[in-house]
Amino acid sequence: MKIFLAGCDGLLGQNLLRTSAGLGHEMIGSSRHPAPALPGLLSAYHALDAAEPATWDFVRRDVKPDLILNAAAYTDVDGCERDPAQCDRVNRDAVRWMVETGIPVVQISTDYVFDGEAGPYDEEAPVHPISRYGRSKLEAEAITLSSKEGLVVRTTLVWGLEKGAKKSFTEFVRETLEAGKPVRAVTDQIGNPTLARELASAVWTLLARGRTGLYHAAGRDLMSRYEWALQVAEFYGLDASLVRPIDSSGLSLAAARPMNGGLVCEKLARDTGFRFSGLREQLRTA
Ligand SMILES: NC(=O)c1ccc[n+]([C@@H]2O[C@H](COP(=O)([O-])OP(=O)(O)OC[C@H]3O[C@@H](n4cnc5c(N)ncnc54)[C@H](OP(=O)(O)O)[C@@H]3O)[C@@H](O)[C@H]2O)c1
Repeated sequence: MKIFLAGCDGLLGQNLLRTSAGLGHEMIGSSRHPAPALPGLLSAYHALDAAEPATWDFVRRDVKPDLILNAAAYTDVDGCERDPAQCDRVNRDAVRWMVETGIPVVQISTDYVFDGEAGPYDEEAPVHPISRYGRSKLEAEAITLSSKEGLVVRTTLVWGLEKGAKKSFTEFVRETLEAGKPVRAVTDQIGNPTLARELASAVWTLLARGRTGLYHAAGRDLMSRYEWALQVAEFYGLDASLVRPIDSSGLSLAAARPMNGGLVCEKLARDTGFRFSGLREQLRTA
């Protein structure tokens, strides 16, 4: 299959590319950067802004892929609150232009479509976003699913150690503790740490099985950031007493977060046999 991967330099984008090797797809990458992070894994690269309608005219007319795999997004949740116009343009409008090409779209979404009152959530749970980011992602889900070929994969707390991608929580904790500095981590926000490489494999598995519609895809363990930080300290043999529990009410963040978030991934396991590992196993294999 000829696949146009938007956001090929992001954390998930890089992992989708690495795990695509050997699957027999022709990967065409795109991001805003002048050159891609992993040129050897791409058959072509286009530096494009996903939030420009002309980008999608070009993709439809000149690239002509069989599938658009969208790993591009405005992922700074607080930034989305401060710049809602850009948030909506990247996270919602770009997805509309993708779908309007008539090419099937795979869209990556988030547990931020929920309010966090009663997680973890399965695919049937009622949505109620409490941030601009969550709302824009929910609108993009509906746009993607308006096409019967659309696939939406919701995930949460994605991490990886890829160079050049944004620094993930595991890396932040390890580096801070290695420097002998304290890490403050919230005890009241719950989610499933998800290794980006496993998430990429789940997406490929869904595609190989020809699945469409909505799927949840996230790590097996449900925990707070505080518990996550403690497991990182234990795994790397670092001083866990430097991990300090805090309450998120003490942080002045622009965007509200779902507190009891997280995802139930039974549908994915039932339909494809794919099961995520827990955080200890992820740390061992990252
Ligand atoms: N990370 C998580 O914990 C998490 C949780 C739930 C859902 N998700 C979803 O998973 C997907 C992948 O996220 P990620 O963690 O891989 O995020 P990421 O590392 O921030 O990657 C997002 C990529 O999108 C690109 N991008 C942003 N605006 C763009 C634009 N206008 N045109 C082209 N590219 C643009 C960014 O490139 P620049 O460098 O140019 O900005 C970046 O490479 C997203 O849909 C996100 O909403 C992530």
